[in-house]
Amino acid sequence: MSESMLFRDVVRKRHSVRHFLPQPVPEGILRSVLEDAQLSPSNCNTQPWQTHLVSGSKKDALSKAMLAADDAGQLTPDFSFGINDFPGVYRERYKEQGAAYYQAIGIKRDAYDQRRHASRRNLEFFGAPHVALLFMPEVGDNVRVAGDIGMYAQTLLLSLTAHGLGGVPQTMLGFYGETIRKVLAIETSSKLLFGISLGYPDMTHPANQYRINKAPLSESVIFYQ
Ligand SMILES: Cc1cc2nc3c(=O)[nH]c(=O)nc-3n(C[C@H](O)[C@H](O)[C@H](O)COP(=O)(O)O)c2cc1C
Repeated sequence: MSESMLFRDVVRKRHSVRHFLPQPVPEGILRSVLEDAQLSPSNCNTQPWQTHLVSGSKKDALSKAMLAADDAGQLTPDFSFGINDFPGVYRERYKEQGAAYYQAIGIKRDAYDQRRHASRRNLEFFGAPHVALLFMPEVGDNVRVAGDIGMYAQTLLLSLTAHGLGGVPQTMLGFYGETIRKVLAIETSSKLLFGISLGYPDMTHPANQYRINKAPLSESVIFYQ
């Protein structure tokens, strides 16, 4: 198989993993994935990502603190995110994704409690043994920095896939910036963009057995000559 075929396979194999096996990933493999991500491009090579890789009892403490904050309604996002800001086709895609996920895990549209429980699984890292929290410095309007971190995150996700692992990016973790900073003693000038729960995917779980549609090129690309 040519190298480009292998690349195609990795890109097509990657998907958001929302159910993990409990066993931790050996440190050498974690480091190898993080080394790959470290090669990502960034504006003027500023490499503005600050990754906090959390495992074990610290990860459990983080989950407990976020669930408590959620119970108390203490959401402290560093960056806003409201789905109502996404009109038209963006909203349709969002709704399609939610419907596909809940259908896959057997939750009906009006089962509010079950939906809330499923949503709170974000705060338990979907059972993943590790979470990479992607913080960034406060620089300018932050848009370029966020773009760089997107580059970093995708390299990390593809490397996870290439290593037989999986991950899910989670903006929802970013809603608990203050809580997370407190548990990990991170300075307030570091802002949380999102996290990536990661580990070995449990491919027998229905959450990992559906694939969401992606738009055709014609919806995203305009060619010029
Ligand atoms: C920056 C970012 C944040 C995301 N936040 C969440 C999240 O909080 N919870 C979640 O379950 N999925 C989250 N996702 C996963 C998306 O729902 C998923 O990428 C999308 O539906 C496409 O599916 P795929 O990753 O399987 O291709 C996020 C993805 C990205 C890129």
